[in-house]
Amino acid sequence: MSRSERVSPTAYATGHFWVRHGLSDARLSTPQGRLLDGGFSAFTQLTQRLGGGSLEALMLARHAGIDARLDHAIETDGISQVVELAAGLSGRGLRYRQRHGERLTYIETDLPHMATLKADLLEQDGPLPAHHQVRPVDALADTGPRSLAAIADTLDPERGLVIITEGLMNYLPPAAADRAWALIAQTLGRFRAGVYLSDVYLLGHNRSLAMAAFGLMLSSFVRGRLHLHLHSTEHAKNRLTGLGFAEVTVWSPRDLPGAEAHAARAGGDRVRVLEARNARPQAPRKRATSRRTRAR
Ligand SMILES: C[S@@+](CC[C@H](N)C(=O)[O-])C[C@H]1O[C@@H](n2cnc3c(N)ncnc32)[C@H](O)[C@@H]1O
Repeated sequence: MSRSERVSPTAYATGHFWVRHGLSDARLSTPQGRLLDGGFSAFTQLTQRLGGGSLEALMLARHAGIDARLDHAIETDGISQVVELAAGLSGRGLRYRQRHGERLTYIETDLPHMATLKADLLEQDGPLPAHHQVRPVDALADTGPRSLAAIADTLDPERGLVIITEGLMNYLPPAAADRAWALIAQTLGRFRAGVYLSDVYLLGHNRSLAMAAFGLMLSSFVRGRLHLHLHSTEHAKNRLTGLGFAEVTVWSPRDLPGAEAHAARAGGDRVRVLEARNARPQAPRKRATSRRTRAR
């Protein structure tokens, strides 16, 4: 199996994890996911006992932290299109469709086998609406029908775009990570406003014996090497601006609404939310401005 195919078991496990925490829909919980999530729970209890902090708190902090910045991009920047790369069996697309209806176009993507599975699970009760799609995309493909660029061709540059990766970048070796980030920056550059959101683990925050043991155990659980790409906020800024982004912010989940409580638990603050923009934020479009004006 290729490295990418080996990642999939963790997508089954997290698929059930989000359901278990009330962040997803029961349709995205599979028998494989329930089994693997059981193993994952036992594994996280062990790492907690060894002093590695709660991996559950970390997962919840990263998910809620990305949601918080996605909310900001939608409500403040007036962006109304989202492409989630490597979405696996995450329930975020469904949650945002339920919250925003057809005002938001949400395209969930993953490698073909996972995209097909997700579409099948979500379409059990009928076809998805046009504003919520599941499509095959390889985050490393620079051209062709399975590239991010091909998905971007179907979107409206004026409506802006958020691109999300959650739980992907640490599986990619450094050169592949740079390639994926460069393709994301290039794609966002085609839009009026463009925001990239991801979970990130800074080496500077995670350099302890407990974390090294924890990393090794996690690598063995997911059956592949994990890569920490960024040392510090400064390094994140330099590396991502070098790849084509204009502005880079690294958020602590302690400062993000909805994520603070998870970040306050031991281990929950080991993750950060990376936000990279294609350009300085531009004035929100008229519709978003008038909604906010009415709400005041
Ligand atoms: C750990 S799972 C995370 C799933 C989801 N984002 C979540 O947080 O629950 C990683 C996902 O990355 C996908 N993946 C791996 N390599 C990829 C690539 N080159 N392009 C797109 N997706 C990829 C896998 O198929 C898998 O669904």
